[in-house]
Amino acid sequence: MSKVKYNIAIDYWRGTLDSRRTGQAKRERLVSRYRKGSGENHQVYPMKMHEGPWSEGATANRELMKTAQREAHAIERAALYPEQASAEYSAKAAMWQSRFADYKATKKPGDKQYATLYTYTYSHIYRELKVNGVLDALKAKADAKEALYQSLIPQINSLIAGETDLIANMANVAAVLHETFRFWWTGFYIVKDIEKSSIINHKSQMTSELVLGPFQGPIACTRIPYNKGVCGTAWAQDQTLIVPNVHEFPGHIACSSASKSEIVVPIRKNGEVIAVLDIDSADYNTFDAIDRNYLEQITL
Ligand code: SME
Repeated sequence: MSKVKYNIAIDYWRGTLDSRRTGQAKRERLVSRYRKGSGENHQVYPMKMHEGPWSEGATANRELMKTAQREAHAIERAALYPEQASAEYSAKAAMWQSRFADYKATKKPGDKQYATLYTYTYSHIYRELKVNGVLDALKAKADAKEALYQSLIPQINSLIAGETDLIANMANVAAVLHETFRFWWTGFYIVKDIEKSSIINHKSQMTSELVLGPFQGPIACTRIPYNKGVCGTAWAQDQTLIVPNVHEFPGHIACSSASKSEIVVPIRKNGEVIAVLDIDSADYNTFDAIDRNYLEQITL
């Protein structure tokens, strides 16, 4: 290698190294900033910021952006060519022009400057549409879910009322919930007594654990000990658990890496937990109080 080429190679290598170092430092700064905002030991990474129900709004947001752009263009045109404008857009243009004038008059040095009536109008319209549009979309989704449960739960309960076999009923409940909501995994774990031989005195003793029951979805782990994983914890605490992000649940048992959020509802008989209904979703933040309210009404 000639000396020139060698120096270029060295410079290139140093450059790569430096940019890597800068990247790492920047990432660490960001991570520590997010951690400060959400509790010291909380595992939050900048990469995860877009996840959750807001990501579902991404496509909707693009639509809102286009709508805001079109509206801002129409208002700007009405301001520029008043003689061609409709009454509706003349009024809108007058309103936005006066807001823009107020804004310019009260602007302090160092404030973000809006270059034109268009950018000012667009940013405001977009923000309004975004807040209303996304919240409306989420509310519509929640309403639709509630309506589905309202018609489904009485049907489920009448379906299982005519059958006394627990396994048969669990199988149908798992099927109907899975088909209706297209969850990732829907099924039951049943509390069963098992004999375990002690490693201390080699004597066997009785204990109980959760054993896989009827389910729909990919294959799952067959046994879950008391107080372990989301299922074992819901059993031990005798209460429904909603986990918005399974990666943040200490001791979560990952049967499938695709599972991102989960709800576990204990099934009781004579006051004792005899099984749990476990539902996994491939999205974060899928389950809320609506799911809990209705799933707890299933009486096996
Ligand atoms: N995630 C569960 C285990 C069961 S599977 O998800 C089907 C848990 O932590 O208990």
